[in-house]
Amino acid sequence: MKIVVTGALGHIGSRLIRELPVAFPGCEIVMVDDLSTQRYTSLFRLPDAARYRFLQEDIQSFDLAPVLEGANGLVHLAAITDAASSFDKAEQVEQVNFEGTLRVARQCAVAGVPFLFLSTTSVYGTQSEVVDEECAESELQPQSPYATSKLHAERALEELGRSENLRFITCRFGTIFGVSPGMRFHTAVNKFIWQACQGLPITVWRSALDQRRPYLDLEDAVRAIAFIIERDLFDNRVYNVLTLNATVREIVDAIRAHVSGLDVQLVDARIMNQLSYTVSADRFAAAGFTARGDLRRGVRDTVEWLKNVASRDVRVGI
Ligand SMILES: NC(=O)c1ccc[n+]([C@@H]2O[C@H](COP(=O)([O-])OP(=O)(O)OC[C@H]3O[C@@H](n4cnc5c(N)ncnc54)[C@H](O)[C@@H]3O)[C@@H](O)[C@H]2O)c1
Repeated sequence: MKIVVTGALGHIGSRLIRELPVAFPGCEIVMVDDLSTQRYTSLFRLPDAARYRFLQEDIQSFDLAPVLEGANGLVHLAAITDAASSFDKAEQVEQVNFEGTLRVARQCAVAGVPFLFLSTTSVYGTQSEVVDEECAESELQPQSPYATSKLHAERALEELGRSENLRFITCRFGTIFGVSPGMRFHTAVNKFIWQACQGLPITVWRSALDQRRPYLDLEDAVRAIAFIIERDLFDNRVYNVLTLNATVREIVDAIRAHVSGLDVQLVDARIMNQLSYTVSADRFAAAGFTARGDLRRGVRDTVEWLKNVASRDVRVGI
C-alpha cells in the first residue's frame, strides 16, 4: 500500500501519518508539505511500522507524477486553513485551496490515482434545522473566503470526474478537536481550551453560544480516511463526516469539567451569522462508518497536553 499525503505535517496530517500504518502495516507514506506553517515537530519520532518519505514542496508548483507512480490514493490536506484570517488574504487562499487542489487532482486523474479531498461543513449556510449533502444550492452559503475556496474546489472536482475520469471523494469534515503533534489552535474547541488553560476569558462570537454546529474528533477523522482507502470508496460523491453536532455552550461545559473558574466573553467577529443547524452524517453511516469519538474525552486529552503550561487549575483525571 502506498499513500501520498499533501499537507501531511498539519493538525490532521500529523496524526494521520502515525495512524495509517496501524490500518495498513508496512505501508509507504509519501508526505508532501511546504512547511509554510513550520510544523517540523510533526516529523519527529515517526513510527517504524511504515516507510516514510518527506518532500518539502509547494503543491502549486510540484510535479507529483513520480510520487504518484504505484500510489493507491492521495489524501489532499494541503490548504490555507484559518477561516477567520482568510478575509485578509482571500486571493492567496483561493490560489492554494482552489487552484492548488485542481492542480493536484488533475495529476491524480492522469496517473489514475484516487483523490481524497478534504472540504468543510462550513460550506453550509442553511436556514434549515438539519442539512445533508443533497441540500438545495441555496443552502450552500460559505461565510468566509476559506469556505468559499473549498466549495469552488468541490465543484471543479465534479467536473474533473466527468471530463478527465478522476476518481475522487469529497469529505466535508466538521471542525476538528483532539490532539496531534502538529495541532493548531485556530478553531473553536482547541482555541477555547487554550484560552481556558491560559487563564484568559473564552471569547465566543456573540451569535454563536447556542448555535448548533458539527464537530469531528480527530480519532474519527483519521479512521474515516483509512476507512475510505480500505473500502475504495472513491465514488465521486460528497460525504459529511462528523462525530457530533454541539452548541458552544456544550463545548464550554465540557471544558469547565476540567478547568476551574472559566469566564466566557461574547465578542463580535466578521464571520458571524444567525444560523444554527445540524449536519447529517447519515450518508457516511450508510456506507458503513460508525463515529466513535467523544467531545469530553477530546477536551480532556487536550487539557492533559497543556496541563503543565496552564495558569488555571486543571483536572485531567475525570
Ligand atoms: N482542522 C479542521 O477543523 C478542519 C475541518 C474541516 C476541513 N479541514 C481540512 O482538512 C485539511 C487539513 O486541515 P488541518 O487542520 O490539518 O490544517 P493545517 O493548517 O494544520 O495543515 C495544513 C498543512 O498544509 C501545508 N500547506 C499549506 N499550503 C501548502 C502548499 N501550498 N503546499 C504544500 N503544503 C501546504 C501546511 O504547511 C500545513 O502543514 C485542510 O484542507 C482543511 O481545510 C480541516
